[in-house]
Amino acid sequence: MMIILLLVYLAESTCPAIMCNSLETGAVALDSDGSVYVNFYGCPVGTYGSVESLMSWFKNNGTVLFCHTLDTPSLDSSESIDCLTFPGEELLADTVYPKRCNSSTDCLLKDGGYVDCLCGLDGYSYCMPGWGADVFDGYWEYCDKHHNKTPQTYWQYYKDLHTYYNYWIMAPSCAQTTFIEFVTLQAGLPNSGLYIIISYGILITSLLS
Ligand SMILES: *[C@@H]1O[C@H](CO)[C@@H](O)[C@H](O)[C@H]1NC(C)=O
Ligand SMILES: *[C@@H]1O[C@H](CO)[C@@H](O)[C@H](O)[C@H]1NC(C)=O
Repeated sequence: MMIILLLVYLAESTCPAIMCNSLETGAVALDSDGSVYVNFYGCPVGTYGSVESLMSWFKNNGTVLFCHTLDTPSLDSSESIDCLTFPGEELLADTVYPKRCNSSTDCLLKDGGYVDCLCGLDGYSYCMPGWGADVFDGYWEYCDKHHNKTPQTYWQYYKDLHTYYNYWIMAPSCAQTTFIEFVTLQAGLPNSGLYIIISYGILITSLLS
């Protein structure tokens, strides 16, 4: 019984440790003797891999995972989204994110609660920050300053960071560009520099007129 429990524990605690390598065109990943290689060249234009399919493929001992045609999220950046309600601080008791863990008991919060411990893409697991974690300080500050609304693109970035934090945080560069879940994270926060240029342009135009 002990042995079975131990085996189940070991099986569940195994996370893929991704390395970038050049694979055949159209392949997302290759599992070779327990090493997981993700295609250095990414997927052909218009196709993607997905980190969710990588994880189930990895669990099921797949050999080659192929790219798929997937719809990329099209975002209407002019639409604004109501902010979430702040759930209260959810800070780790002893350190800041990202924190490696072996189980959720390693993810103790200051308030005495625990958060999940989930696989990253570097062979280790990480504590999953809730919306009240310092990871999302930028989101709450933006909401405070903008009457509790964010542009759609801004919301999408933080929502994806919240959902895929564990995968994203240590994803090697090949994974960052290959997986559909990382499209908005890879693009980064909407560039406020653009607004500065636009408002600067308006200022100069109004000064000249
Ligand atoms: C994957 O391989 C491991 C070790 O060889 C084995 O214990 C497990 O049952 C396999 N899983 C599946 C879904 O085939
Ligand atoms: C997880 O387990 C490993 C192996 O037992 C240990 O070396 C490591 O310190 C543990 N990590 C944490 C965060 O407790």
